Amino acid sequence: MNKVETSFLHKNQFGEDFLWGVSTAAFQIEGAPDSDGKGRSIWDVFTSQKGKIKSGHHALTACDFYNSYQSDIDLIRDLNIPNFRFSISWPRIMPTGVLPVNEAGIVYYNKIIDSLLSAGIEPWITLYHWDLPHELEIKGGWTNRESVNWFSAYVEVCVQNFGDRVKNWMVINEPSVFIGAGYFLGIHAPGKKGITNYLKAMHHVTLATTAGAKIIRNHIPDAHIGTTFSCTHIEPATQSSKDVEAAKRVDTLLNRTFIEPILGLGYPQADLPVLKKLNAYIVEDDLNNLSFDFDFIGLQCYTREVVKSSLLIPYIGAELISAEKRNVISTDMGWEVYPPALYEVLKKFNAYKGIKKIIITENGAAFPDTLKNGKVYDIKRTHYIQDHLEQILKAKKDGLNVDGYFVWTLTDNFEWAEGYNARFGLIHVDFDTQQRTIKHSGLWFKDFLS
Ligand code: NOJ
Repeated sequence: MNKVETSFLHKNQFGEDFLWGVSTAAFQIEGAPDSDGKGRSIWDVFTSQKGKIKSGHHALTACDFYNSYQSDIDLIRDLNIPNFRFSISWPRIMPTGVLPVNEAGIVYYNKIIDSLLSAGIEPWITLYHWDLPHELEIKGGWTNRESVNWFSAYVEVCVQNFGDRVKNWMVINEPSVFIGAGYFLGIHAPGKKGITNYLKAMHHVTLATTAGAKIIRNHIPDAHIGTTFSCTHIEPATQSSKDVEAAKRVDTLLNRTFIEPILGLGYPQADLPVLKKLNAYIVEDDLNNLSFDFDFIGLQCYTREVVKSSLLIPYIGAELISAEKRNVISTDMGWEVYPPALYEVLKKFNAYKGIKKIIITENGAAFPDTLKNGKVYDIKRTHYIQDHLEQILKAKKDGLNVDGYFVWTLTDNFEWAEGYNARFGLIHVDFDTQQRTIKHSGLWFKDFLS
C-alpha cells in the first residue's frame, strides 16, 4: 500500500458548506475512570460485572484518550478532518451527578477544546453519550423523573464552562439504543429490564432532551443545537399484510418514537399501541415541554433491517431477520452492508416538516484489519465509507437535504457490550501498546478531504 487507492470521490462534489467530521464518545476512548476525582458511571459499574462484556473486556484504559488526547488531536489534524465530535463524561465533571463540580474535570475538557481550536478543528460536544453517574442510578437513574432536573443542572455547568468557545452541541445520543438496550433488554448499562423501566426512561429522556436544548439556547444564543438519533431503513420480509404491518411497527419503534415528540408530533401511539402505557407517566404540561426547534438533527445510520411478523415477541409482534440468516454481506457487528439504507433514511427524515437541517453524525463499519509490514489494510471499510458517500451524493442530486457527514470513528475503541472485538476506527489501535497506525481508510479519507 504505497499509494492510497484512487476513487473519483472528492469533498468538493458535496459543496463548500458541507461539514466533514469524525465522532467519538468519552467512555469508549478516555479510560482513566478514577483519575482526578472522577465519579463512577453506570458503564464503570456494568463493565466490572462478570459476563456483561464479550471476552471479559473492560474500559479501564480504553484508548487512553484521557492522557493521549494531544497526539490524537494531532492525528485528526493530519487527516485533514475539520470537525471533531466528542462527549463529556458527566461523572468526570460532577462525580455524584449533582453539584459540586469537580474542577479537574472542567480543566480536562477545557484542554481538549483549546487544543482542538488551536489545531484549527471545530469542537462538537455531545452532552450525554450513555455514561450516567452511578450515584444517580442508585436513585433510579432515567426511570426517576428527577433525572430531568439532574440533567438540566449538568447542562448548565457545561454551557457555563465551555459555551464561550464551543458553538456546536448535541444533547442526547441515540436514545432508542441506550434506552432499549439498557432499560428494556438489560444488555447495556445499567442492565435494567422490562417495559415499565423502558417507558419511564423514554419519557424522562425526551423531556431532558428539550430541557437541555433550552438551557443551551438561553446561555449561548448563537449556538448550533442538535440531538442525535439512530435510524434504520426497514423492509418487510414479504409483501403479506402481516409482515408489512410488523415492519410498520418496527419502523415506528426504531425510527419515529423518539424524534416525533421532539418535533411536536407527540408519541406515535396509534402505530405502536404499547406506547399508550406512557400516559401513566405524562403529567400536566409535559406535552408542551416535549418539543424544541432544533437547528439540526443528527442521524446515525449503519444498516437496514428486514422484518417478519412474529406472535412470540411481546409488544411489537415482529422479529428482525438477521443478516446471517439472510446470507448477505455483513460487518463484525452482524449488520448487513447495505448503503442504499442511507439514501432511504435521508428521504424518510426529509419528509418531516420540522427538521431544518440533517447531519449524518455517525456512519462507519466494524471489519477486521490486516496488519502487514507496519501498515493496516482495511479495504472493506474504505469501500463502505465510499459507498455511503455515493448515497449522499445521490440524495443531494435528488434534492434531499443533508449537510454533513461524520465518520464513526477516529480510533478503534471500546464498543460497549462487544468490548474491543469490533474495530470501527480510521486509525488502528494496538491495545497492548496503545500504538496508533492510520489505516488505509484513514489515508483515503485524508486524501478525499485534501
Ligand atoms: C452508535 C453509538 O453512538 C456509538 O457509541 C457506537 O459505538 C456506534 N454506534 C457503533 O455501534
